[in-house]
Amino acid sequence: MKAAVLNRIPGELEIEDVTLDAPRDNEVLVRVSASGLCHSDLHFMEGLWNTKLPAVMGHEAAGIVEAVGEDVTDFKAGDHVITCLSVFCGKCRWCLAGHLSICANPGAVARPKSAPPAIVNAAGERVAQFARLGAFAEEMVVHEHAVVKIPENMPLDVAALIGCGVTTGLGAVFRTARVEPGSSVAVIGAGGIGLSAIQGARIAGAAKIIAVDVVDHKLDVARQLGATHVVNGAKGDPVEAVKELTLGGVDFSFEAIGLKQTAEQAWAMLAPRGTATIIGMVPFGTKIEIPGHEIFMQEKILRGSMMGSNQFRTDMPRFIDLYLDGRLLLDEMVTGRITLDEVNEGYDLMRRGESTRTVISFEN
Ligand SMILES: NC(=O)c1ccc[n+]([C@@H]2O[C@H](COP(=O)([O-])OP(=O)(O)OC[C@H]3O[C@@H](n4cnc5c(N)ncnc54)[C@H](O)[C@@H]3O)[C@@H](O)[C@H]2O)c1
Ligand SMILES: [Zn+2]
Ligand SMILES: [Zn+2]
Repeated sequence: MKAAVLNRIPGELEIEDVTLDAPRDNEVLVRVSASGLCHSDLHFMEGLWNTKLPAVMGHEAAGIVEAVGEDVTDFKAGDHVITCLSVFCGKCRWCLAGHLSICANPGAVARPKSAPPAIVNAAGERVAQFARLGAFAEEMVVHEHAVVKIPENMPLDVAALIGCGVTTGLGAVFRTARVEPGSSVAVIGAGGIGLSAIQGARIAGAAKIIAVDVVDHKLDVARQLGATHVVNGAKGDPVEAVKELTLGGVDFSFEAIGLKQTAEQAWAMLAPRGTATIIGMVPFGTKIEIPGHEIFMQEKILRGSMMGSNQFRTDMPRFIDLYLDGRLLLDEMVTGRITLDEVNEGYDLMRRGESTRTVISFEN
């Protein structure tokens, strides 16, 4: 099958013919219908993060089950599914407490080392699956704890977005920060993740939703999806602008870019007792600095959100209901549909700030 493989860091993706093993034990084989381009893969391609190579990249997909391993009882060929990188062991203390996205032992549900690799390249080398998924490929073999069944009336191309971006943004608002009705929210970065947080804030009933970005047309989309105010961070100090709009600061801020500077801005624009949630993948090893006295004197909170603190088997079907109800706008987030061969061009659009979400469609 065809897959987009990262062979070196930093590096571009290469379209290769790789061989996929049949699903074993608790694995399912998914024929991928659509795969979204999330910025996280780009951080690895650009060398800000490291992962095992070579790897089939991609982690935001939806598709149809084609076959299942002999121990799988909950899925069958023909099921429509979304995949999620929050593959849970189901046994560790975090899983048992409902915090699947920070499972301490996802390796427990990985294919055993004694089994043949799931993917090999033309040279016969083992190819890793990025984020335990590898979604830039025509097919994926994943553990059943990486998939959730969805209704067949949900279009698969937009269902893919729920696989990462939407679940991360909505989850950060609903589950991590628990945004309250009537509160004020600022979201820094209006890409796929930030726009999902903005939609989450709208659905949660936030009164004031301020989108901060450095590209004007991203701010137009943000307004369309629920922002009540917009700030172009390239034209003046976004912290001052947000404070002015809220008479002193927001109750909840979200950083959805992955920069030290904007993470610190997220903290600085908080009102006393506010919570800043860092979603962006700040480069590995980078430190965020915040004034220590503000932590206790203003009772502010800084926290992170891993994949929206999801419980994806229950969250994703809820997000689908919100979409089918017309309250979660997904079609408006897709700015381009491309083929697998065009994946690097898709990432060029993201680098230049010209796309909201680009989706690889495998049904062309
Ligand atoms: N925590 C998680 O579990 C999780 C999950 C998915 C993605 N992420 C991370 O979330 C971040 C966002 O991903 P995305 O796919 O939405 O990316 P994206 O590239 O689509 O969006 C980023 C946005 O930030 C804007 N931006 C860039 N610099 C800015 C600045 N200085 N001030 C204001 N806006 C600025 C860009 O114009 C763009 O609109 C990435 O770091 C990604 O790795 C984290
Ligand atoms: Zn992602
Ligand atoms: Zn676990």
